[in-house]
This record gives sequence, C-alpha cells and structure tokens, in this order.
Amino acid sequence: MSAALLSTHGLVAHYGDFQALYGIDFEIAAGEVVALIGANGAGKSTLLKSIMGLLSVAPGMVQLDGRPVGGAKPHRMVANGVAIVPEGRRLFVGMSVIDNLRVAIDHAGKSAAVGWTLERLFALFPLLKEKQAVPVESLSGGQQQMVAIGRALLSQPRVLLCDEISLGLAPKVVKEIYQALPSICETGTAIVLVEQDVGLARSSSNRLYCMLEGHVSLTGRSADVSREAIGEAYFGGAHAVA
Ligand SMILES: Nc1ncnc2c1ncn2[C@@H]1O[C@H](COP(=O)(O)OP(=O)(O)OP(=O)(O)O)[C@@H](O)[C@H]1O
Ligand SMILES: [Mg+2]
Repeated sequence: MSAALLSTHGLVAHYGDFQALYGIDFEIAAGEVVALIGANGAGKSTLLKSIMGLLSVAPGMVQLDGRPVGGAKPHRMVANGVAIVPEGRRLFVGMSVIDNLRVAIDHAGKSAAVGWTLERLFALFPLLKEKQAVPVESLSGGQQQMVAIGRALLSQPRVLLCDEISLGLAPKVVKEIYQALPSICETGTAIVLVEQDVGLARSSSNRLYCMLEGHVSLTGRSADVSREAIGEAYFGGAHAVA
C-alpha cells in the first residue's frame, strides 16, 4: 500500500470509565475503500467518532498525512478534509434538500482538489436535483441517505467516513448508493465503510478490518480473506458467516 492518508496509532477510546477501543492501528491511502466490519458493539462507530474528533483522543493517535490531528474538534477535522455520514443521517429536518446541501458548502474544508460541486453531486445522484426544493423529511430513507452523503461530499473530504449507510434501506437503493462509491474515489477521496452486510463490505472494498470487542481481530485485502477467517474474527470463535 502507498503512504497512509489517514492512520490511527494505538488508538484508545473511552466513554467515561468504560473503555471501548484498545489500541487500534488502522490506515487508509488516498482513493482506497476500506471496510470496517464486526458485530454490534465491536467499536466500529467509536473508531469513526474518535477519528472525527467526536471523542477525546491523544493527538498522535490520529494522523492525517503523517501529522497528528487526534482530538481536534469536528469542525477542524472537516476543515482538514475529513467528513462523516453518521449513523441515522442527522439531516436538518424542516429544511429542503438544497438548504441541507448549502450548509455543507458554507462550512466546506479547503481541499479544493477534491472539487465537489452541486452539479457534480446532481450527476452522481440525479434524484437530488429533482427533489432539491423538497423538505428532507418527506424523502424516503434511501433518498435521505443520498442527501447525507451529498452533504458530506460538499464539505470536500479527502477521507469520507460512512457509518452503516445501507442500514434499513431497500436492496435497490443500496445498490444505487454503492455504485456511486467508485466515482467518489476517482479524485483520490478515501472511503471508510462501516457495513453490517459482510458480503457487500467485501465486494465494495479494497481492504477490510474486522473488529471484535474494541480490538482489530483481522485485517487484509478483501479479495484474499476467507469466509472462515472472517467468521472467526467476527465472533471470536470458529463460527462461519451465514
Ligand atoms: N455513548 C456511549 N456511552 C457509553 N458506551 C457507549 C456509547 N456508545 C457506544 N458505547 C459502547 O461502546 C462499545 C462500542 O460501541 P460502538 O457503537 O462503537 O459499536 P459498533 O461496532 O458501532 O456497534 P453497532 O454495530 O451496534 O453500531 C459498545 O460496548 C457500546 O455499548
Ligand atoms: Mg455503530
């Protein structure tokens, strides 16, 4: 793999007295898609939140271009070129699609090379152009997910963190969203994909990390790791993935 764009080094994270992550070493290069899989409570969302500055971590535990950025506030991380599509989307209810997107444009990072514009976003998800004047709450779950992804892209991320973007969506719209990922990576944006569907995670990513109880239990090239290895890493025993 070429030099890491974003990396974590012995990253630990806590919720009060509870330790959720135990020394996570993770890395992703420009243009890569890396899947994060693991059972409920394994620590996937916590890793994304720690990278995004939503949880307190030591500076050297998160590095961007080899520079320590751990513990920077979320708005600083956006300015640094990291964006998150959070679990549950968190759109601005009562606002139209276009106004949700404009918020991101107003708060965009300075990674001009990424070059996301409304025009390019509408080419990626034509439905957003059609529905731009519509309040977000009247959209379907899949359409709302497109707005959430669009909002993240318009902040010009070099690293896009996606937390379970397929959750609860119809297979057709999941396919539509996942088909958009290669165009997102085209300009060098890296995608970290938290995904419960192990098959989808493997087929959509270059590499994967499996997490188990706050540790990385397996990492490798997605095409190379066997179902048996994933089953063991996922459950911590000799189980197969269904
Ligand atoms: N706000 C919180 N306060 C206290 N503990 C938390 C909090 N959020 C998560 N945890 C705990 O941290 C651990 C990791 O949770 P996390 O949400 O990162 O898991 P996950 O892999 O994203 O799971 P899921 O697949 O259910 O989304 C779990 O034990 C969870 O109960
Ligand atoms: Mg989660």
